[in-house]
Formats: sequence, C-alpha cells, structure tokens
Amino acid sequence: MDFTGIVVVITGGARGIGRNMVEHFQAAGARTAVIDILTENTEYTNSTDFYFTGDLKKEKDIQFFAAEVLKRYGKIDYLINNACYSNKGLLSGCSFEAFDEVLRVGVGAPYYLTKLFMEYFGEGGAIVNIASTRAFMSQEDTESYSAAKGGIVALTHAMAVSLAGKVRVNCISPGWIDTTGEKFSQEDKEQHPVKRIGKTEDITKLAMYLCSEDSSFINGENITVDGGMSKLMIYHNDEGWEYKR
Ligand SMILES: NC(=O)c1ccc[n+]([C@@H]2O[C@H](COP(=O)([O-])OP(=O)(O)OC[C@H]3O[C@@H](n4cnc5c(N)ncnc54)[C@H](O)[C@@H]3O)[C@@H](O)[C@H]2O)c1
Repeated sequence: MDFTGIVVVITGGARGIGRNMVEHFQAAGARTAVIDILTENTEYTNSTDFYFTGDLKKEKDIQFFAAEVLKRYGKIDYLINNACYSNKGLLSGCSFEAFDEVLRVGVGAPYYLTKLFMEYFGEGGAIVNIASTRAFMSQEDTESYSAAKGGIVALTHAMAVSLAGKVRVNCISPGWIDTTGEKFSQEDKEQHPVKRIGKTEDITKLAMYLCSEDSSFINGENITVDGGMSKLMIYHNDEGWEYKR
C-alpha cells in the first residue's frame, strides 16, 4: 500500500502493536504522529515524524498533542486509537479511580482526540479503534479492561454515524497477539483453530486496509482477529478441556 503524503496519528506507538503500526505506515510513506506515556526509546526512521511523550488520561496532554499535530501537518488522514491497559477488576479490588483511568485511556481519549481532529480530516479520512475479544467474553477480574473494550466497540458505531460522509470509523478486536517475541507452548498455539498465536502484523495489516480506499464500503464495523479462538465452543470433556470445580 502507498500512503505517501498521508498523516496518521497512532496512540500508544512506543511498543507492541502500536509500534508495529508506526513502522509499517512509515515504510508505506506515511508521516506518523505518536502519543505515548513512554519516552521514545528508538530512532524513528523519518525526520518528518512526530513523537510526543504524554498521558492519555490528561486532557491537557491530549490537547497539546492534537494542536501540535495540526501545527506541523495542517491535517490528519487516519487516527488509530490503539493505547489501552488493564487495572483488573472486582476480585483484586480495582478502585473507582483505577477503573475510571482505564476508561479515560481506552474510551475517553479516543472520543476526545476524534473531537479535536474531526474538522481536520483529509478526503478519505478514517479512524481505526483497537478493542479486544474481551469486549465480548471474559476471564475473571477483568472489569476495567472489558468495560473499556466494550465501550470502544460502541463508540465506533456511534462515531461512524456522527461523522457520516466525512470519516469512516471501524474497530479491530484482537485476540492473543504476541508483542514480545517470547516462546509459547504447543498447547498455547494449537488451541487456536489456526494453530498459532497472533502477530502484530495481523493487526497492522487490517488497520492499513481499514484506512485505505480499498475498504471504503466498510464503516462502523468491528472485526475480530483472533485465529478463530473466540469461535471455539467448549463444553466439559470437549477439545481436551475438562471442567474442574
Ligand atoms: N497484545 C494482545 O494480545 C492484545 C489483545 C487484544 C487487544 N489488544 C489491544 O491492542 C492495543 C495494543 O496492545 P499491546 O499489546 O501492543 O499493548 P502494549 O502495552 O505493548 O502497548 C500499549 C501502548 O500504550 C501506551 N499507553 C498506555 N497507557 C497510556 C497512557 N495513559 N497514555 C499514553 N500512552 C499509553 C503504552 O505505554 C504502550 O506503549 C491495546 O489497546 C490492547 O488492549 C492487545
């Protein structure tokens, strides 16, 4: 894909999936603008790219970042709301504040960035939100994260309708994605119907497609990328799985 001249904003671009997106968009000719709470730890390849160390929980940081992007580039083409994290939930005593922080980063910041950028999208503008299969299914003690991910799925279709005719808004729900290159057991891999764990590129390539004109009839949608893991129906004594009380 050729994204020459395109400006793409990626939140949480310091590492993991966001970092992979930055590298691929840059390789495709785009100028990238990143906000991350981590200090930049590697050299970005293109001097026209912008990295800002800021906290998506803080309104002022988001305002400064958005203003700086517009000052530098005068427009935005794609916004990828990727940053999120978990403060766990009920069983580990996640506080009201800690719960709220995850919602701020995972839902509030994507909303606010969209509000600040909405008048400045170029033609063919697109937003890609990163949710999780945990928006739809849960392990115990995951309330803060699951709520944020459910929130961003709903935010996606709401914004797609509000921004109709101007910006398409879609969502990706990753399953288990390897962001560290560690070794996984055969069981970890083979439980997935595709027999492997996800790669950061699995998410990046779909994000690039959802930004491009090739996907211009896809809008307000959530697409799960989990190797079929969340489609596997498991009952006691199925799939080598046993319920233990
Ligand atoms: N890796 C997976 O298996 C997986 C699965 C499902 C969904 N996801 C989602 O994909 C996205 C990326 O995940 P990842 O695995 O690459 O995570 P990661 O933790 O490696 O990267 C997230 C980035 O967001 C940044 N960030 C966190 N809080 C921030 C804040 N307050 N302000 C600014 N930046 C902040 C972090 O510093 C980090 O660089 C997240 O939304 C995550 O929920 C990941």
